[in-house]
Amino acid sequence: MTTHTRTGAGGTLGLALDGIVLGCDYNPEQWDPTVWQEDVALMREAGVRLVAINIFGWSHVNPADGRWDFAALDQVMDLLHAHGIRVNLGTGTASTPAWLTRQHPEILPVAADGTTRYPGGRQAWCPSSPILRDRALDLVARVAERYGDHPALALWHVSNELGCHNAHCYCDASADAFRGWLRERYGTVDALNAAWGTAFWSQRYGAFDEILPPRLTLSSRNPGQMLDFHRFSSDALLDHYRAEAEVIRARSDAPVTTNFMVTAHIRNLDYWTWASDMDVVANDHYLDHRLADPVTEMAFAADLTRGLAGGAPWMLMETAVGAVNWQPLNRARAAGELRRHALTHVARGADSVCFFQWRASAQGAEKFHSALLPHAGTDSRAWRESVELGRELGVLAEVAGTRVEAHVAILFDWISWWTLDGEGNPSTHVRYLEQVHHAYRALRAAGVTVDVVPAGAALDGYRLVVVPALHAVQDAAADTLDAYVRDGGSALVTFASGIVDHDDRVRLGGYPGAFRDMLGIRVDEMCPVAPDEELALDDGSRASLWSERVELRGAEAVASFASGPALGHPAVTRHRRGDGLAWYAATALAADAYAALVARAADDAGVSRDPHAGPHVELVRRTGHGRTYVFAINNSDRPVPLDVRGTDLLTGEVLRAATTLDAGEARIVREETR
Ligand code: GAL
Repeated sequence: MTTHTRTGAGGTLGLALDGIVLGCDYNPEQWDPTVWQEDVALMREAGVRLVAINIFGWSHVNPADGRWDFAALDQVMDLLHAHGIRVNLGTGTASTPAWLTRQHPEILPVAADGTTRYPGGRQAWCPSSPILRDRALDLVARVAERYGDHPALALWHVSNELGCHNAHCYCDASADAFRGWLRERYGTVDALNAAWGTAFWSQRYGAFDEILPPRLTLSSRNPGQMLDFHRFSSDALLDHYRAEAEVIRARSDAPVTTNFMVTAHIRNLDYWTWASDMDVVANDHYLDHRLADPVTEMAFAADLTRGLAGGAPWMLMETAVGAVNWQPLNRARAAGELRRHALTHVARGADSVCFFQWRASAQGAEKFHSALLPHAGTDSRAWRESVELGRELGVLAEVAGTRVEAHVAILFDWISWWTLDGEGNPSTHVRYLEQVHHAYRALRAAGVTVDVVPAGAALDGYRLVVVPALHAVQDAAADTLDAYVRDGGSALVTFASGIVDHDDRVRLGGYPGAFRDMLGIRVDEMCPVAPDEELALDDGSRASLWSERVELRGAEAVASFASGPALGHPAVTRHRRGDGLAWYAATALAADAYAALVARAADDAGVSRDPHAGPHVELVRRTGHGRTYVFAINNSDRPVPLDVRGTDLLTGEVLRAATTLDAGEARIVREETR
């Protein structure tokens, strides 16, 4: 895959804008044109410099088959330009117009149970539909032709959150495309039979034509087929992205991207395979109040997005000013949270903060979603806080382009997510993302900033690499980790790692197959426990969910199970391997024990930890242009010590001695010396 460098790129994120960019989605089609003038005037007041338009524009610019009407979009483009506001232009393909699905109902997606999903919501299209592709590319060509050189254009926004609702389609067109994808991957049906283990339950295929997408069955489905369907579905949408991008690139020099969904509730696309196709990596993130610790998940998502950007600055393409409308309970942000959360994204590498959306809708499914300009208008907390945020982001201009400093990496992998959360595993209570979050929370509690990188990535720059529940691993990635350890690195691997290969085939000879030698252990049996069953360890710590019968094969026991089915077996081990150290946790340690283990592994590895950072206090450094900026954000309800010297960019105050950071406060300090 190639990374495209667009001509005309420059400035922040290659968008020909400078500083940290404040932006938003703008849906002028929901309002009378008389409102637009007020919109642009207020955008200026709030410091909005980039707006995403035409995201759901299809039925407006193409109201009937063969009829095109760009008058309103022309007017909005020109109006924004006249006010010095740049455009993040949607290709408009996110949602099909009713006339099209009426004419071609075969475009509609089909669920695993064979039932159709109808129009009336959004994204009601099959990613593999040739008719959809054809019509969408026609629209893209017209939009790109018309606006490709428009002076307001800063960025192309392909479709919207590809795969948010329609990632998995099981219709006949998808079945065809799936078979084509499998032919490409395996060449022969025998190779496919071997990869999927179809000797089981008489599932052997005699020809590719016999294969279906994994539609609902009476029993568990074939795990190899399920895994490949995940891969295929991710690739089908990537192919859609590439097709739109190609049409644009033939007509415009502006950079092209789409908005990722690196969040807790979507796992459909393997973004490691997508990232290099983006001229700038962009993510949508919404706090998820269904989680126990939404703020930590937000920090993790930001770090993962930075990983997808290869460490470079990235865009926060969407977030909410306050409540969303799609959780069971849609909480408002408490006073100060908007600012702290936006700054958390910037701390972790975002050079833009964009919101969904500009003006709160009065109608439609999202009418109770927050916006920069709420239903109440400018006499509102949301507006005042937004304007203040815009001012502060303006002050942070010099931070743009700098990179986050991290000496610890965490491996993250969609294949492990898909396989570990699949059917037929030892415990449905072990969920991949939860285990990753658990590890991340421990690192955060230990005051460590981390990069999130793919399995198999070069690890030389890191002192410690944490490998949570890396269930599916290829030999090459396991070898890279082992070589890194033997060369003096430190790794901390947790249970459920290294169990299967990339065909979801168990690695035989004892668990954790791929990492047995590196860890100096062997496990002959996994012994998961009920979610409410507490496990005791002989060093006094507590654990849950998982235990296993670990035998030492060169490693030493750091702690052992003092209760449960693996009583007496090691629960935490440590193995000197070459010049490095390989740690293993055979259970889900309680938060305090996990943080203590991570702190110990980090200290042993010579990682500098910040004693004042912690679960509720962000301390992240961005460096570049010969300078270092410390982002200190206190999410707790009490003051915390802050030991940084330099100039607080937000207040101009010079910090010459250790001080405190008030509850709920944030400082961004340009360090004088380090
Ligand atoms: C995103 C989407 C936006 C809007 C937003 C609401 O998923 O891209 O169009 O729906 O969520 O939170």
